[in-house]
Amino acid sequence: MPKRKWDDVSLAAMQAIITMLVEDHAVAAIQGEPDSVVDLGCGTGSVLEKVVDKFTGIRAVAVDKDLSQFGLGELSNVQTTKCDLAQGTGLPDSSFELVLLCGSLEFNDNLGVAAILGEANRIAAPGARIVIQVTHRDHDRARQQLLRKGDIVPSGEAIRAWGEGPYGWYHLREDGEYARLIAKEFAVVNPEVLRVSDCPETLEYFEEYCGYPGFSLNSGLSETFVCRSKH
Ligand SMILES: C[S@@+](CC[C@H](N)C(=O)[O-])C[C@H]1O[C@@H](n2cnc3c(N)ncnc32)[C@H](O)[C@@H]1O
Repeated sequence: MPKRKWDDVSLAAMQAIITMLVEDHAVAAIQGEPDSVVDLGCGTGSVLEKVVDKFTGIRAVAVDKDLSQFGLGELSNVQTTKCDLAQGTGLPDSSFELVLLCGSLEFNDNLGVAAILGEANRIAAPGARIVIQVTHRDHDRARQQLLRKGDIVPSGEAIRAWGEGPYGWYHLREDGEYARLIAKEFAVVNPEVLRVSDCPETLEYFEEYCGYPGFSLNSGLSETFVCRSKH
């Protein structure tokens, strides 16, 4: 079979599919009927939007150091806070039944991750759920492969977005490193992996575009840790 040549359009489409799957996976992991949510590293707010849609009337706060991407139009009842999560959010202690950390820890070193998890714990109400989603190690390896061979990327934009782009450097992690960092702060109730087999089309993307030969249907895309605070 001839190798597919990935152009910017098909690359963007596949990335959009992966993003949607990953977000749905995080939202599906939320249990109970929380009455308040804080999204730490909200980005565009696309995950928070799904949560607000799912739990009508929920009190929602979105936090990011860069709110320029945030879709305020779609999320008019959401309070926003601009800060570096590792420096503290200034939000009150024990004030949220649901804390989201989706796709944001990756842009912080281990000291930053520890500080952010500590802050998440401080603002979580007793009995709160903390839903943490991170890039799976298999997916990290494919990114690493891309970062190494930047010259084959159609425009170079993808590499910039994952590297020095708007969010800051993407930190690659060792096997089990997130689990270890998270377990220091929270009781992990239910870790779940979203795999390529959940969307088999992504296999072609990883194998042919990323050129990562180790990818299989069993490879992980993202990992969701559903946690409870220890206080
Ligand atoms: C890839 S986006 C993910 C956005 C969203 N949570 C989602 O899943 O679509 C990562 C976001 O985390 C934010 N972020 C990462 N580290 C942060 C920090 N230390 N303080 C504040 N925001 C941070 C970035 O600014 C960016 O908007």
